[in-house]
Amino acid sequence: MNSFVRARQPILKTSFHLSPPRVRQQLTSRTLPSVNIQRITMASSLSSVSKFDPKNMEFRYLGPTGLKVSVFSLGGWMTYGKHVTGNTVKDCLQTAWDHGINFFDTAEAYANGESEISMGQALKELDWPREEYVISTKIFFGTGRKEPNCRGLSKKHIVEGLKQSLKRLQLDYVDVVFAHRMDPNVPMKEIVEGFTQVIRNLNLAYYWGTSEWTAAQIQEATAIAEKYNLIAPVVEQPQYSMFARERFENEYAPLYSSLSYGTTIWSPLNYGILTGKYNDGIPKDSRFAKEGEFFKDTINRLRTPEGQEKIEKVKKLTAIAERLETTTAALALAWCAKNKNVTTVILGATKVEQIVENCKALEIIPKITDEIMEEVEGILQNKPEVKQHIWTQR
Ligand SMILES: NC(=O)c1ccc[n+]([C@@H]2O[C@H](COP(=O)([O-])OP(=O)(O)OC[C@H]3O[C@@H](n4cnc5c(N)ncnc54)[C@H](OP(=O)(O)O)[C@@H]3O)[C@@H](O)[C@H]2O)c1
Repeated sequence: MNSFVRARQPILKTSFHLSPPRVRQQLTSRTLPSVNIQRITMASSLSSVSKFDPKNMEFRYLGPTGLKVSVFSLGGWMTYGKHVTGNTVKDCLQTAWDHGINFFDTAEAYANGESEISMGQALKELDWPREEYVISTKIFFGTGRKEPNCRGLSKKHIVEGLKQSLKRLQLDYVDVVFAHRMDPNVPMKEIVEGFTQVIRNLNLAYYWGTSEWTAAQIQEATAIAEKYNLIAPVVEQPQYSMFARERFENEYAPLYSSLSYGTTIWSPLNYGILTGKYNDGIPKDSRFAKEGEFFKDTINRLRTPEGQEKIEKVKKLTAIAERLETTTAALALAWCAKNKNVTTVILGATKVEQIVENCKALEIIPKITDEIMEEVEGILQNKPEVKQHIWTQR
């Protein structure tokens, strides 16, 4: 069957332990039972003791793969290796792990490589068994070096960039490597070959994904992979939150139904705006205070009537959150996770307490009833119109 017109499959309700891999491959939106990931305790003296306790975490398959990731994960942009260093990085990772988070995200570009260095150091000191956590990095922007081949998606930078990322992380492989953006100057076949090489020939990663590519570019990469027996991407890393919906809900819709494409979504709190912390100005210790230049346009927009309307929406969302006996942040995160096309919501956190608060979103997901969803839509007034996309394979 043409993989681009495969019918949407129902959500898997049965235990994943019983479903044969072939059946699982065809599922689009594949949610694992919420209390799951039974610990396999091997009596064998060869097996190491599991350090991971999933608690009440929910795990979802990463797109069409067999990889299970926690529905909340933790990323290192603008935090680890930059404003957050040393033991606090370790404490944040440990707190996430203690809440059942098994997936961590970074990139070569974050703090010009310092994010990978500090997260790698924390992972080394935490000494978790490598098979118990999942980590991704992203290649494209480089680490600030000016040489022409130290960024982009040439085969050379995909291979050498990832090797350097792994050195900084002190790891032999990442589970997922993303193309942090599309590189329009490199032929798509070379990009797909580059990622195939790091997975198939060099064992530096198990899967590859895209970040902020257009749906058409993802479709093209997939078609090229099929045609030349190369490895296709399986997951996109897009922005998605109550305030950033169009591409995720509309443009990518065919990717979920035809490719079972996974998503690791970023900035689910819209950089912190959805916590309510910017309702009355910019707190001293916040991201917008520390990164004023980078967020100049976002901050200026917040001061316009349109921005003030956004703040009013946050205040109305706070009223719903209070009724649910939770915080605005937890409501906004749970709203993202409720969308079954979201594989994992990447949290960003500068403090341990933020991780503890944000993980409470897990308990809120079942409390977001259809009525609450309607109420939220009434406040947001930004639901994208999902158009009919008809794709044909080339
Ligand atoms: N692929 C891409 O292009 C891309 C782009 C961006 C991000 N990402 C990934 O997505 C991850 C998350 O993005 P993000 O950090 O922008 O997510 P976010 O959830 O929108 O913002 C996180 C920031 O909000 C503040 N915050 C979080 N929880 C809070 C709470 N409970 N109370 C008060 N403040 C709170 C913290 O900043 P302060 O404490 O400093 O105010 C925190 O660093 C990144 O780490 C990265 O892995 C990917």
